[in-house]
Amino acid sequence: MKKTVLTGIKPTGQIHLGNYIGAIKPALELAKAADYQPAYFIADYHGLTKIHDQNELKQLSYGVAATWLALGLDPSKVIFYRQSDIPEIFELTWILSCFSSKGLMNRAHAYKALVDQNNELERDNDYGVNMGTFTYPILMAADILMLQADIVPVGKDQIQHIEIARDIAEVFNHQYGQTLKLPEYKVQQHTAILPGLDGRKMSKSYHNTIPLFIHPNKLQKLINKIKTDSLPPEAPKNSTTSSLFTLYKEFATPLEVESMRESYQTGVSWGEVKAELFHVLNRFLEEPREKYKELIASPHKLDEILLQGAENARSIATPFLKELKRKIGFSQN
Ligand code: ADP
Ligand code: TRP
Repeated sequence: MKKTVLTGIKPTGQIHLGNYIGAIKPALELAKAADYQPAYFIADYHGLTKIHDQNELKQLSYGVAATWLALGLDPSKVIFYRQSDIPEIFELTWILSCFSSKGLMNRAHAYKALVDQNNELERDNDYGVNMGTFTYPILMAADILMLQADIVPVGKDQIQHIEIARDIAEVFNHQYGQTLKLPEYKVQQHTAILPGLDGRKMSKSYHNTIPLFIHPNKLQKLINKIKTDSLPPEAPKNSTTSSLFTLYKEFATPLEVESMRESYQTGVSWGEVKAELFHVLNRFLEEPREKYKELIASPHKLDEILLQGAENARSIATPFLKELKRKIGFSQN
């Protein structure tokens, strides 16, 4: 039997190069393996914890969907859907809530970070924390347990959430017998954490990203903004600590990377490196950018693909939820 590999991306900002290298690219590679059934989705109800503007949420969700497809996701092989189209997930979320201790949520890192920030600013502990943010890990557990995922590829920051999903599943199984499958996480150990324009991790939260599908002129401008030191062109430069080199490495051919490494040693101007980086990035993005433009202009087509995916996901979720409810003691004819 094929193993289910499942992951979600929440639509809370434009997808950037870091998301591609750290999440989308490895997930698309896993999707090619014959012994896996991938299930990839848009975690739009997770997005609702932050985005409360109707149009923004809608556009960001379409943006995530179009990004996956433009980069090569094949919806005939991947169960590809929008979380909000699977009502069973929310029914399961409530069920799981009744098996999740509040203490477990208190320890979840995203909530804890907000509380710490409030403490620092001498505000009430729970200032600005909605219940969606507080119980976020339970919804994520429902995403994973509903489709009986074996493997969940995630970034390091999400490991705790997978552990929480396992904890909740164990409590449930302890009460009703082996029912929920315990998921394993898969962290891309060898994938680079891409630096952003300021040298910190590229992240929506730091406003330092290079979005994937912007106009080439904008792409060039952003690349020109990447922070460098003030060494003169002829000075040898350290490639291992250079943000520009880290980005270049991910998109250039091995030969190009070697030649750039040499240029760093013999001396090269940052302007030249930036021009080369633009060249390789734009070369990689050209084709998917066109596909993305087409897809984003046809929301009906995106809806059609996502609704078909939702139907496939529900063909697993509906009978499974029925079985769970029967075990709990709800009458299920
Ligand atoms: P952001 O930090 O922009 O809010 P998310 O937390 O939504 O991004 O991350 C979505 C996925 O992209 C996660 O799997 C995460 O590990 C990956 N990711 C995000 N930023 C980077 C980065 N700079 N380098 C590598 N992977 C990243
Ligand atoms: N919480 C994840 C993130 O912020 C997104 C997500 C929601 C997810 N549900 C999931 C990831 C289920 C993996 C599996 O990146």
